[in-house]
Amino acid sequence: LFHTEIPEGLRRLPGPKPLPIIGNVLEVGSKPYLSLTAMSKQYGDVFQIQIGMRPVVVLSGSETIRQALIKQGEEFSGRPDLYSFRFINDGKSLAFSTDQAGVWRARRKLAYNALRSFSTLDGTTPEYSCMLEEHISKEGAYLIKQLNSVMKDKGSFDPFRYIVVSVANVICGMCFGRRYDHSDQELLSLVNLSDEFGQVVGSGNPADFIPILQFLPSKTMKNFVSINDRFNKFVKKIVIEHYVTYDKDNIRDITDSLIDHCEDRKLDENCNIQMSDEKIVGIVNDLFGAGFDTISTALSWSVMYMVAYPEVQERLHEELKNKVGLDRSPRLSDKPNLPFLEAFILEVFRHSSFLPFTIPHCTSKDTSLNGYFIPKDTCVFINQWQINHDPKLWKDPSSFIPDRFLSADGTELNKLEGEKVMAFGMGKRRCIGEVIARNEVYLFLAIIVQKLLFDSMPGQLVDMTPEYGLTMKSKRCHLRATMRVKSEQ
Ligand code: HEM
Repeated sequence: LFHTEIPEGLRRLPGPKPLPIIGNVLEVGSKPYLSLTAMSKQYGDVFQIQIGMRPVVVLSGSETIRQALIKQGEEFSGRPDLYSFRFINDGKSLAFSTDQAGVWRARRKLAYNALRSFSTLDGTTPEYSCMLEEHISKEGAYLIKQLNSVMKDKGSFDPFRYIVVSVANVICGMCFGRRYDHSDQELLSLVNLSDEFGQVVGSGNPADFIPILQFLPSKTMKNFVSINDRFNKFVKKIVIEHYVTYDKDNIRDITDSLIDHCEDRKLDENCNIQMSDEKIVGIVNDLFGAGFDTISTALSWSVMYMVAYPEVQERLHEELKNKVGLDRSPRLSDKPNLPFLEAFILEVFRHSSFLPFTIPHCTSKDTSLNGYFIPKDTCVFINQWQINHDPKLWKDPSSFIPDRFLSADGTELNKLEGEKVMAFGMGKRRCIGEVIARNEVYLFLAIIVQKLLFDSMPGQLVDMTPEYGLTMKSKRCHLRATMRVKSEQ
């Protein structure tokens, strides 16, 4: 990029001067969301760094990101060919692979439709408005029981360890038509390792950009390859079982519906997109992976914020008690009556910005942004953390204030303010699980807040420092949970 000819009328990208071989790796450091946000103050919304030998364009600012991902969406919707991405879903991931635009679009549509139909399907009894509500309500009730029993046995619990199984069961229900016990070692050993997965695929991992590092022994990379291997084997085994028991007249779950699509396509002579069955059925691998890690991270952070801000936790419980009561389980339809809970969730998304960058993007042709030239195949980082902490958009951005999302009298959610939070990306690559995710985080929290009171272990402060990765996690810790409704103990 430094030696590229700049077309007339366009400018060369600003940015820090790179060192030979390592580029700006030292300045980027271990908290890229902070260092790249600081650089945006110096260089502006569009600047360039070099990680190793590879130039990377970093985008900040709500307007600039909107311009790139929506108005110039086609040019910014590719994925870069990064070393770590090749190991995800055997290199056939919908979210991480460098699929051509036509193939990616067809797979994305299939994934979107499958998710939508299996979350909105009728529940097994009229008590539930849809399958998603049924799965979450049942898993929420199991979770409460499980935490109650762990508290009795051990006196404390690690929030992520239990939440992740409940959340994984919701997506397992939709994808594979089954759930796992909280002590299932096969599932636990997979879902408990997602921290290490995120650390490698987080934006700016030097091994993705400095080829020599790929040949040096690295424990993290070895772990990453092994996690992906185990994950792929786990899903493959279930997919094979589905092929064996597949019945065209009884489509049980998302895996069946994807197999069904492959069968239909073989009969469709007009089908013009060439895709292997593996690429179609492999979509379920992406849905399962994306569906548990993100939501369990959101819920674990929510619990941590409740512990760090006990007065907020009390207000959440009071709102639930007054609007839903303590005698029945909360429902999706209660959401409009729980504005403080919605405001709390938005503030957790904003303040933690636990997905600080989207998955890296890549330009699909030569383009320009804000007058700067950006060549084809340039890797682009989208800094969501910067938008969520931009003092131009937020008053006192570093403080945790759920009320910022409520109307002046505190009775209604300020939807316009909520739309300023960037957590799911935007434009053509925007998260396809957003509706499910927002509903799931809301309903799990409503169920938890109704029944449980969380606090830290005596004498221990909660550590809210995030650990950097694709999804940033809070440090693993132990908390206490007390049942609020004594009769259920
Ligand atoms: C992509 C956020 C839950 C499926 C993404 C991206 C973000 C994101 C930031 C990348 C956008 C980009 O590259 O520009 C979140 C958050 C979640 C969540 C914050 C929960 C709180 C889910 C769930 C599913 C899902 C539940 C599915 C069950 C996907 C898929 C992609 C994606 C398949 C890749 C889309 C593509 O590359 O075209 N998500 N997500 N996500 N998400 Fe989510």
